Amino acid sequence: MRIVVLAGGRSSEHDVSLNSAAAVREGIAAAGHEVVDVLIERSGEWRHGADTLALTPGGGLLDADVVFPVLHGPFGEDGTLQGLLELLDVPYVGAGVLASSLCMDKVVFKEVLAAADVPQVPYAGVHLARWRAEPEAVLRELAALGTPVFVKPARLGSSVGIAKVSSETELGPALDTAFGHDSHVIVEGFSPGLEVECAVLGFGTEPEASVPGEIVLTGGADWYDYEAKYTDGGMELVVPARLDEAVLEDVRRLAIDTFVRVGCSGLARVDFFVEDGHRVLVNELNTLPGFTKTSVYPKLWERTGVPFPQLCDRLIALAIE
Ligand code: DAL
Ligand code: MG
Repeated sequence: MRIVVLAGGRSSEHDVSLNSAAAVREGIAAAGHEVVDVLIERSGEWRHGADTLALTPGGGLLDADVVFPVLHGPFGEDGTLQGLLELLDVPYVGAGVLASSLCMDKVVFKEVLAAADVPQVPYAGVHLARWRAEPEAVLRELAALGTPVFVKPARLGSSVGIAKVSSETELGPALDTAFGHDSHVIVEGFSPGLEVECAVLGFGTEPEASVPGEIVLTGGADWYDYEAKYTDGGMELVVPARLDEAVLEDVRRLAIDTFVRVGCSGLARVDFFVEDGHRVLVNELNTLPGFTKTSVYPKLWERTGVPFPQLCDRLIALAIE
């Protein structure tokens, strides 16, 4: 099949996308498909080789059978790009418009899970307009979460714009930093639990879950930040996570339940905290997780017995199912 690989994009995860796409391109070619590259510049321009692309609703994209958007963050993973691909009328890998958009916003995602009583860390969402209008009231409310807390742009990935706050005086500046990236911010209570991630692959009500892995920081980072994620030696993925068999099963079941609850398709990486060896909290779901050399999603499938080219092949097949 002829697969357009979309890479780059307008978000601050542009470089991560380029590295993810390099790996995906190889995997797709190794699976025997034809790869057609499209680069989305930081400006938003779409390029194929030296040509700037003009897109026409209903017109497909470079005669692709399937588009693989290897894009992370806003304008790639948040439903906007998926809406555009719907309008072009071309099948694509991954979640549709609503699930992409819902999972991109960490606050909205948590509210949907909270409505189903799924265990999570305590959290609060803050909109920029409210922060500007009544900062003191916001700070008073957030004090209820105690410290430490993580302050994050609600709709970004790869830990960009995130601060770990250890005292109340740092909260205001951390909010300002996060609001520099997004008009919606989440403040999450700190969990001392293990960081565990599980990869999901499939469609409908019966997707498959990988063996869960555990993130162990090895580069001296205090938390799982951008450097720990993408620097060689920044973290070690321990597979399976060092948990009892029954707890690993709980993680896998919750990963699938969450995938189905938010209406994902194709792929997702679901991130957890596991406290006291058994209390499993869902933290977030990434609809287009990283595919770089150090990324967890492909490694988890590899360790579950799905080699990378086969993983790419299955994702493409799911896109046209
Ligand atoms: N946002 C990055 C790419 C991830 O979740 O892996
Ligand atoms: Mg993420």
